[in-house]
Amino acid sequence: MVAQGFGKVILFGEHFVVYGLPSIAGGIDKKTIAYAEKSDLPGLHVIDKRPAVPGYKEGKREQFKESLSYIKDAVPQIPWDVQGIQITLKGDLVAASGIGASAAACVAIARAVNEFFGLDLDDAHINNIAYEGERGYHGSPSGVDNTCATYGKVIYFQKRSDGDVLEVIEPKEPIKIVMANTGIPVNTKAVVEGVRHRREENPELFEGIFSEYAALAKEALPVVERGDWKKMGELMNQNQDLLRQIGVSHERLEELISAALDAGAYGAKLTGGGAGGYMVALTPTADLQEAVESALKEKSKLVLSTSIG
Ligand code: MEV
Repeated sequence: MVAQGFGKVILFGEHFVVYGLPSIAGGIDKKTIAYAEKSDLPGLHVIDKRPAVPGYKEGKREQFKESLSYIKDAVPQIPWDVQGIQITLKGDLVAASGIGASAAACVAIARAVNEFFGLDLDDAHINNIAYEGERGYHGSPSGVDNTCATYGKVIYFQKRSDGDVLEVIEPKEPIKIVMANTGIPVNTKAVVEGVRHRREENPELFEGIFSEYAALAKEALPVVERGDWKKMGELMNQNQDLLRQIGVSHERLEELISAALDAGAYGAKLTGGGAGGYMVALTPTADLQEAVESALKEKSKLVLSTSIG
């Protein structure tokens, strides 16, 4: 089996999911792949040969190291002080903010460790190890990114203290999307902290925004399942408005979102942590997908059309 982790797109609920509200997200068909070999030095060593947006890897260097240390701790059955593994990361997922690059790397590394040492861990266990690895990047992640990276499906996900809610969604037909990158690498941990800070400063305002999102999320699930693209697009636009209100949009994201909507996308929003990174547009027909892709290519160096589910 290939030691791989999928990239992801959050269709609804980034940031809100950190506070226990539901999110809808999916794995995409771009992956990070980890190749393992024996290392003469004990410990977990990773050579990062992933394609990446300029500045992304440099900005994440310390978090990457921290993540590897959490991954090691999450696999205590390996005596890391005497056994060594070298992992090389490659794959067609361009490492950038907003597309789950860190989660895809954590899952690929967890799978490579599992196979190399013959641990026989199932996907749920891989997902738990990747969650630990994600702590290096997110502080206290919701778990939606690593869950998408592990399973690669469209999911309804809710972080809960009594056990996360995870349901696989099977939309009536695949969801066609276009994603475009702003070229801006983001420190997700800092953006999540920023939201926490603003929420503490303005509890009433945030309570209103959060309850609006909760109602929106409730509406979104059946809409995605039955493939009501018009309504889904409207809800994505509303979700973007709430993301603006909690302060995680960015002028480059707004520019790309406007370009996608002008080209006919049914809805468009930032995806992932925001403040840079990626946006996603809903484009239910092949012609529309092509039109939105070409409009976005005029404004972004990294545009990707795909379908999920
Ligand atoms: C980042 O892809 C998604 C956030 O909601 C953080 C998280 O869920 O851990 C911003």
